[in-house]
Amino acid sequence: MIVAVIPGLPVIGNLLQLKEKKPYKTFTQWSQKYGPIYSIQTGASTLIVLNSTDVAKEAMVTRYSSISSRKLSNALRILTSDKCMVATSDYNDFHKMVKRHILTSVLGANAQKRHRCHRETMIENISKQLNEYAKTHPAEAVNFRNIFASELFGLALKQALGNIVDAIYVEELGATLSKDDIYKILVIDIMEGAIEVDWRDFFPYLKWIPNKSMEMKIHRMYSRRKAVMQALMNEQKKRIASGKELNCYIDYLLSEAKELTEEQILMLLWETIIETSDTTLVTTEWAMFELAKDKKRQERLYQELQNVCGREKVSEDMLSKLPYLMAVFHETLRKHSPAPIVPLRYAHEDTQLGGYHIPAGSEIAINIYGCNMDEKRWEDPFQWMPERFLDEGYEMMDLQKTMAFGAGKRVCSGSLQAMLIACTAIGRLIQEFEWTLNEGEEENVDTVGLTTHKLYPLQVKIKQRNY
Ligand code: HEM
Repeated sequence: MIVAVIPGLPVIGNLLQLKEKKPYKTFTQWSQKYGPIYSIQTGASTLIVLNSTDVAKEAMVTRYSSISSRKLSNALRILTSDKCMVATSDYNDFHKMVKRHILTSVLGANAQKRHRCHRETMIENISKQLNEYAKTHPAEAVNFRNIFASELFGLALKQALGNIVDAIYVEELGATLSKDDIYKILVIDIMEGAIEVDWRDFFPYLKWIPNKSMEMKIHRMYSRRKAVMQALMNEQKKRIASGKELNCYIDYLLSEAKELTEEQILMLLWETIIETSDTTLVTTEWAMFELAKDKKRQERLYQELQNVCGREKVSEDMLSKLPYLMAVFHETLRKHSPAPIVPLRYAHEDTQLGGYHIPAGSEIAINIYGCNMDEKRWEDPFQWMPERFLDEGYEMMDLQKTMAFGAGKRVCSGSLQAMLIACTAIGRLIQEFEWTLNEGEEENVDTVGLTTHKLYPLQVKIKQRNY
């Protein structure tokens, strides 16, 4: 059987129908008419789009051996130093080696235990800043993202480099950069560059035609990131040479991964920084938005926290006793799927999906958002209802209740860290404050970017509770 084909125009195929830059939404709408699997034409390439959990799992688990390679855009190929990261590498010996390193030093359960003190400091800092704000500006809305993003970035730096860097001189840029400048170059700029569209992505046979403006922009981002990362690494190498070792990824890689080049180490360190700083922020911000909007559910969570924690502050040890908090986390991941489409893969040999023939060379888009909004699987999928995960069919500590973290061999390696940070933060913030959306904020549900960032940063009024 051949999959349904979405009608498009000659030569460009369906490209014009995707120009809104939120393909996951368009794909989900098409799935209502054409079913969970169909094909579209993006210029010269055929893209098979998967929109249901069953067919997505088949691609990620059962047919993995035929669909394990990544297909990157030109921008992503440059920004990832040609797939030199765990998340963007093809499945090969390099991938197996670097995945072992990231799990052993940063993301595995034991590594996460060793980094717990940094997460605790982060939550304390956030709480302190919000308490200060609530006291000094009782009638004003706070920009939650500013505070949370800066602290999360600090945690990312500690895990990767052992230290938070408040300022650094970068010789190649001839400037001393503040922590905010560093955040912009390492995180914000690259997330923007990752969605740059190069028309040659869609017409590989025209690759020989230069696209100077796009290339210059992406190469500039690449060089600035490299210069900043190099300066940060040099500082830490000096520290290590002076005999001061710390529990962090750079110390581990320099002593345990001698087979890696300097450029590879730079990329792997940067990978944990960008991954820590982005999707967990997206999830926590949307969770606080939903709770601030829905006072009844906010009260239900507060009552659970009161019953279980009493006057103690929520900590990671308590999470397994807080089913409603966990349900809030999973429901937020479902409704706001932070990584709405799995980085594209392609079939390197003929295969089958959902009973359909998939020819070698097809690109595969796994629409996680579409899977999580599938009406056949989820009752009222557009409603935010954490209670759905209290059903006894769900195991409380299972992190794969939705497709948000992907599935199979390439399932997200950072799901434990994301859960620990987001759940402890959401719990603490509801325990300490009553949250109310600022006027007009309810309508601000638009998203932007490669991940589903809230377009307008959350504006909330917070009132200290007497817990
Ligand atoms: C709510 C937060 C997060 C979400 C929704 C998320 C989602 C995802 C998804 C969808 C994938 C791709 C799976 C695939 O290709 O099949 C992935 C891969 C990955 N994620 Fe996450 N992620 C999150 C947080 C994190 C964090 C905090 C880290 C690390 C600091 C991280 C590190 C990784 C890595 C290393 C991979 C690649 C795994 C591999 O290819 O073997 N993620 N993530």
